[in-house]
Amino acid sequence: MGGKVTVVGAGFYGSTTALRLAEYDIFDTVVLTDIVEGKPEGLALDMNQSRSIEGFETKIIGSTTTAEGAGYEATANSDVVVITAGLPRKPGMSRMDLIGVNAGIVRGVAENIAKHSPNAVVIVVSNPLDEMTFLAQIATGFPKNRVMGQAGMLDTARFTNFVAEKLAVKVGVVKTLTLGSHGETMVPIPSRCTVNGKALSEFLSQTEIDELVDRTRNGGAEVVALLKTGSAYYAPSAAAARMAKAVIEDSGVVMPVCAWVDGEYGISGVYLGVEAQIGRSGVVKVVESALTQSELVALKAAAQAVRAKQADVQTL
Ligand code: NAI
Ligand code: 2OP
Repeated sequence: MGGKVTVVGAGFYGSTTALRLAEYDIFDTVVLTDIVEGKPEGLALDMNQSRSIEGFETKIIGSTTTAEGAGYEATANSDVVVITAGLPRKPGMSRMDLIGVNAGIVRGVAENIAKHSPNAVVIVVSNPLDEMTFLAQIATGFPKNRVMGQAGMLDTARFTNFVAEKLAVKVGVVKTLTLGSHGETMVPIPSRCTVNGKALSEFLSQTEIDELVDRTRNGGAEVVALLKTGSAYYAPSAAAARMAKAVIEDSGVVMPVCAWVDGEYGISGVYLGVEAQIGRSGVVKVVESALTQSELVALKAAAQAVRAKQADVQTL
């Protein structure tokens, strides 16, 4: 393999993502940046010192950046860029409460990325996710297929974990799916959930399924409430790292991601959580699958809600 991936933001999400990417040992270089002076360099030094123990050769480079764009030279010509820069939420906050401050951060980061890595595939992570993904596409000016957001992989993984725990089975035999927004209008898709290939409804009552759906929708808030400062990062970083891996490997794997939707499900003109085939060009294509009538209605409602917020974000 080979290639270069940059992770912008060396907080909890960014640093765990950088380490996961390095440990895959498929990139030549992982660049980690942050505006806190010395933090990315220090973390990179520490991560590099784990290479001989964990047995990977990928080199991690830390670079402190400024709002004016100093330090971005280290990221030049990245194949993939993961944007994690921004504030996480605190207990009681919704992801949407972060929109003003994170929009300024994401816009600045995206402009610098476009300047230094004009051919990169961008994976956005900063919240509120669907809106920040839209903003990053506008600010980079990249084709829409080259900008996507991470949410569905995480929300789906949470749903899978809850089902596996409830039924006391291995996570490996459970398949779930979550579409829609990474927020109030998240749309877990019980009709696509199986356990050992059998429908979830064969194992759980509707009330029990509804409880797991609700817990999935509140999966992020549940972690925030326990941590009290900051939000989840182990499952989130696993999700973003797998997306970056799919890009650099041109794997064609189908994943739930936040992608530009243009006609699929009768929905157009919005970044929304859907299944998509991921490859070297980013989103190769959105994959539409059968949904129940109520799931489709919920997905359309999510599209409407996100579209309204995405319109607001253009002015931020
Ligand atoms: P954190 O507070 O640990 O790290 C954020 C980092 O971004 C800080 O180190 C900060 O200095 C840095 N930063 C701020 N402005 C920057 C800039 N202009 N350039 C480079 N770095 C900059 O937060 P954490 O936990 O890493 O979360 C990061 C973001 O990811 C938050 O917005 C959070 O809500 C979001 N998130 C998204 C998830 C998803 O599924 N999409 C899941 C979990 C978190
Ligand atoms: C999460 O879902 C807060 O978006 C973050 O964990």
